[in-house]
Amino acid sequence: MPIEVSHLTHTYSEGSALRTVALDDVSFRIEDGEFVGIIGHTGSGKSTLVQHLNGLLKPSSGQVFIDGEDLNGEHVNRRALRQRIGLVFQYPEYQLFEETVAKDIAFGPKNQGLTADEIRERQDDDKAQRFQPAQQHPEGNVGQP
Ligand SMILES: Nc1ncnc2c1ncn2[C@@H]1O[C@H](COP(=O)(O)OP(=O)(O)O)[C@@H](O)[C@H]1O
Ligand SMILES: [Mg+2]
Repeated sequence: MPIEVSHLTHTYSEGSALRTVALDDVSFRIEDGEFVGIIGHTGSGKSTLVQHLNGLLKPSSGQVFIDGEDLNGEHVNRRALRQRIGLVFQYPEYQLFEETVAKDIAFGPKNQGLTADEIRERQDDDKAQRFQPAQQHPEGNVGQP
């Protein structure tokens, strides 16, 4: 699933005194199977860029193509495309909010409209299973954040 960014520009607070050009004509292409690190000092635009890769932000100009599809194209199924792009935010440990690992795992799929059976399948996934004992701990949810 190649990712291509073409002449991407993002300006925050356009038209106000706080106007900030966070990305200015950025272009690159990431091929299938490539691992890419983005390095830059604080405020250089890393977070802004990454939020464009699954359409959390709309470009001021330029395009983002995921597997050849323009993420902001008029007829694109953004919801379907987004489900193929994983994004882990900074401080993921603060983003665990359910009482159990299983409930936390179920939150995303529930919002995606998966059936109860499909959700259970994901909860029963091998990796999730490894954390299950925490739910049964006599002192309660020791795995709770
Ligand atoms: N929500 C926002 N509103 C206004 N300006 C922002 C916002 N987010 C980031 N910026 C500005 O955009 C620039 C890039 O920030 P950011 O993408 O967060 O950089 P990095 O992740 O590399 O630290 C900075 O000048 C920052 O102050
Ligand atoms: Mg950042």
